[in-house]
Amino acid sequence: MNKEERYLQLVEQVRVLVDGEDDAVAVMANVSAALHEAMGFWWTGFYVVRNGQLRLGPFQGPVACTRIAHGRGVCGTAWASNATVLVPDVEQFPGHIACSSDSRSEIVVPVRDDTGTVQAVLDIDSRELNSFDNIDQHYLERVADIVAQVVCKPY
Ligand code: SME
Repeated sequence: MNKEERYLQLVEQVRVLVDGEDDAVAVMANVSAALHEAMGFWWTGFYVVRNGQLRLGPFQGPVACTRIAHGRGVCGTAWASNATVLVPDVEQFPGHIACSSDSRSEIVVPVRDDTGTVQAVLDIDSRELNSFDNIDQHYLERVADIVAQVVCKPY
């Protein structure tokens, strides 16, 4: 299967995971695992907006930073700009937060509620440069929109 075919399967799997569960942590945990396993990413997970900061949520991969301020790093930039941020080379991104020195490229996608407000971000890291392109962006934005149905509901 090529990348696009794997993403198409993943999107269906994510839909099933979300349809059957209304617990935000459970959904973020399973979606991180599904993405990580299917795509072979280095780090795959969520940061959730809480008390004016991004807080580490469910993830797969190495230990990561637990809090990120608004506008800081790639995740804080995606939150502040309410837009996906694609970073082909983390060393070229001013303010990149190196949770793992092995991370070389990154994509961060906002998870928005019905009003368009960012409630979480989906962060994916790779150990290779230039790992993410517009195909990743397209399907990961679909995944973010699907998980938003559960993640953006109050606990
Ligand atoms: N590199 C991210 C921080 C999170 S870790 O990659 C898991 C950033 O600059 O926001």
